[in-house]
Amino acid sequence: MSKLTESKEWKQLESHYKEEACKWHMKDLFSDNEERTADFKIESCGLYVDYSKNIISKKTMELLYNLADFTKWKKNVNDMFTGKKINETENRAVLHTALRNISGEPVYVDSKDVMPEVNRVLKKIEDFSNIVRSGEWKGYSGKSIKYVVNIGIGGSDLGPVMVTEALKPYGDGPEVFFVSNIDGTHLAETLKKISMDQTLFIIASKTFTTMETMTNANSAKKALVDFYSGSEKDFSGNKIQNAVSRHFVALSTNTEKVTEFGIDPKNMFEFWDWVGGRYSCWSAIGLSIVLFIGFENFREFLSGAHAMDNHFKTAEPNENIPLTLALLGIWYNNFFGAQSHAILPYDQYMHRFAAYFQQGDMESNGKSIDKNGDTVDYQTGPVIWGEPGTNGQHAFFQLIHQGTKLIPCDFIAPVNTQNPIGDHHNKLIANFFAQTESLMRGKTGKEVISELKDQELGNNEIEKLAPYKVFKGNKPTTTIMFNRLTPHVLGSLIAMYEHKVFIQGIIWNIFSFDQWGVELGKQLAKKILMELEQGDKNSDIELLHDNSTNSLIKYYLKNKESL
Ligand code: F6P
Repeated sequence: MSKLTESKEWKQLESHYKEEACKWHMKDLFSDNEERTADFKIESCGLYVDYSKNIISKKTMELLYNLADFTKWKKNVNDMFTGKKINETENRAVLHTALRNISGEPVYVDSKDVMPEVNRVLKKIEDFSNIVRSGEWKGYSGKSIKYVVNIGIGGSDLGPVMVTEALKPYGDGPEVFFVSNIDGTHLAETLKKISMDQTLFIIASKTFTTMETMTNANSAKKALVDFYSGSEKDFSGNKIQNAVSRHFVALSTNTEKVTEFGIDPKNMFEFWDWVGGRYSCWSAIGLSIVLFIGFENFREFLSGAHAMDNHFKTAEPNENIPLTLALLGIWYNNFFGAQSHAILPYDQYMHRFAAYFQQGDMESNGKSIDKNGDTVDYQTGPVIWGEPGTNGQHAFFQLIHQGTKLIPCDFIAPVNTQNPIGDHHNKLIANFFAQTESLMRGKTGKEVISELKDQELGNNEIEKLAPYKVFKGNKPTTTIMFNRLTPHVLGSLIAMYEHKVFIQGIIWNIFSFDQWGVELGKQLAKKILMELEQGDKNSDIELLHDNSTNSLIKYYLKNKESL
């Protein structure tokens, strides 16, 4: 047994679950205490978090906070914020919080304050975004920039995509597009929507070696060269270099590779190895966001995250939003056996929010080896999924209400919409409240029978239908509301989830900031690519994979049409 599962705090939670909590129905918890919500509600950083519709009592929360204390969460939080190298398998500090440290307080890594560098790059982003947005920055043929195409993947894509979608009402800059998939269709379809001479390509890659990004970047560069060669004689040498420097910028930690690609290092916006890909939207990786919403709004976004950082560092456990959400997740994941967690924003602008935290959470906590190098004997990160409401209601909510799986859900909504049309928002929010209420209460057999009797159905029919119409209820939800989806609120919300994921990693004693699990597939893909290239020339190549993979490669080579 691991230290965690052997601990008194874990064992107390186990007995509390078996002897008490697994027998509770939330409906009773609410009728036993009419003021229940007052005990399980936190308001801070513009967020109103009601977690009373969870299968918990005051004692449950006390035991969960004790578990957090056992894992020394406060010390771990302090280690992260003060630049200790907590990403041990990569020997790196973890300082996305420094990127939004608008307080200006120094933050040290290896005894060097990183804030002057952070602020220098922020200033460079501000200046650059101003000249692009004002039209002063010209493309090669003298036209100003109307389109921005961010080429990146994973953390160099998902954050900017999600944030620019969420903050669309603030978007008064160039139109932004995102190309991530190595499937040529993604680039081809995007290029159809832009005109080359008015486009700025942002090549976003921390390493500047990622196969998907570099392939898309090279194809975009070729498309640019082809475009200008069509309109200008002898378009070569310096002219190409000049055009690339007017239409391509880079966001990276790798100056050498950026230069090799042909981008002027002057047009490279740096970040640092202590910024994890999935935590990088606050860094230069956010350039497309700044170009779209402007620097002032981006600063608001940073300040929202900074407010949450301060809350997280200083709030008492039972007032601490990320800590509390993390512990609720542990409660269901490790004691109720829940396998997944749904994020359900009732705001169309947040339609990529769940996808963003699929990487944020699953790449961070999808681990099975603990910090001592041992295989864990408990469950770690859940499957994260979700879609915006009310669409989800007409798709997968059936399973949440009446299926066999327990799925804790976060319901997220703004009090005020950015688009007040008729009674849409009242209807949206009526659904939002109705779902959490019905998931909690359910509907008993008695209630169902009485409803069916009111419909004047016969006894036989009632008997046949009733079981299908019963809802057991007792499905946990947490409701998160805010006034309006502003840059500040979005910053706070993202930081809230980041810290929730961090706390869970501490409790599970795993390294949340590496991602070795994505390497094996990358390595094999390189090898198979060489085989496919050989196979294009000679179909008789020797393949040394398993029988299934060999057959699939042969099927592909045999049926592939030559270009
Ligand atoms: O998928 C693995 C990963 O390393 C992510 O963590 C990262 O966000 C993504 O690839 C992109 O990496 P890069 O920014 O170096 O191109």
